[in-house]
Amino acid sequence: MFACCRFSRVMSSALSLALILIVPSAILLAYNNSRWGAGYFPNVELTTQDGQVVHFYSDLIKNKIVVIDLIYTHCVDACPLETARLAQVQQMLGDRVGKDVFFYSITIDPKRDTPKVLKDYAEKYHAGPGWLFLTGKKEDIDLLSKRIGLYSNPNPRNRDGHIAAVLIGNEATGQWMRNSATDNPRFLAVMIGDWLNSWKNSNAANRSNYAEATPLKIKDQGQYIFATHCAACHSIGYGDRIGPDLLGVTATRHRAWLARFITVPDQVIAEGDPIAQGLFDKYKQVRMPNLRLANEDVNALINFLAAQGAAHSNAAQTAAHRESAQPATAAVMPITRRP
Ligand code: HEC
Repeated sequence: MFACCRFSRVMSSALSLALILIVPSAILLAYNNSRWGAGYFPNVELTTQDGQVVHFYSDLIKNKIVVIDLIYTHCVDACPLETARLAQVQQMLGDRVGKDVFFYSITIDPKRDTPKVLKDYAEKYHAGPGWLFLTGKKEDIDLLSKRIGLYSNPNPRNRDGHIAAVLIGNEATGQWMRNSATDNPRFLAVMIGDWLNSWKNSNAANRSNYAEATPLKIKDQGQYIFATHCAACHSIGYGDRIGPDLLGVTATRHRAWLARFITVPDQVIAEGDPIAQGLFDKYKQVRMPNLRLANEDVNALINFLAAQGAAHSNAAQTAAHRESAQPATAAVMPITRRP
């Protein structure tokens, strides 16, 4: 029933918020605040995952720095990665979320997404305080999505239903920007934390929350795909996140199974594969998304996972040998354990 476009980013023709800065075309536009204020944003009524009734303009965005995306909990492809990405951004922004930055995920399937359903969804993705999941009347949500430039027309040919985009803005200064919700989380965190705040915090102590995070050292294709498509949900050697820790997974699963699961997890689960079913039940029913990866990318990923596993067991042996194993210091948002 939903139109959509997993990663195809159909730019809605009804892009009402016309002066949005779209990455990477870096055009900074200063707005006359009055233009994007109370008269522009509908003050429709929405209900939070805790059942609290709020008004979009006056309660949620007025005088605030906000991050808004559209989701629905039955979405199989784009949303899981999108929500996991925002969860990463939230972690990078630290305790600013809920203080001067607010996250709002609004459902486009209000019939099924009741406050209770949204609450469960928020918990699965470890959404912290300051991140509301909202539902409301269909017509209000449609109006709202058009006004914020995230609406897409229903397209029955597509099973996944919306633009994987996130709107970030500062209502008080009138700065608004639309980004891909599956972009580099560090980039989003800097734009939200610093750009929207006119770089007021850029030298402040709280910068260490995210800007000083160790840059990704990308060595190969597998590592690159892991960092961009998988790390929002998985670590290698740092424990479970939304999905299982993948350290050693190439030793416990057959390569063919892994390749198929990474390529079409939805099909493997639907077929009732016992391993996939067991994982699905254990990880609180969050779906491992079908990311439409090409075979060569999946191969590169499996090679990367295997190399990480091997590096880890070599390091463990060496450390045991020296009897002086120091725990690896965790960088902010580590992806792989250092060998
Ligand atoms: C939105 C979160 C999410 C993303 C993104 C994601 N996964 Fe997963 N993954 C999961 C969950 C959750 C599971 C557990 C199975 C399930 O519930 O579907 C899983 C399971 C797995 C498993 C099975 C682990 C085992 O013990 O057998 C592998 C392998 C895997 N993912 C690899 C990947 C790779 C590679 C990527 C990137 C291309 C990726 N995942 C992206 C959430 C995610």
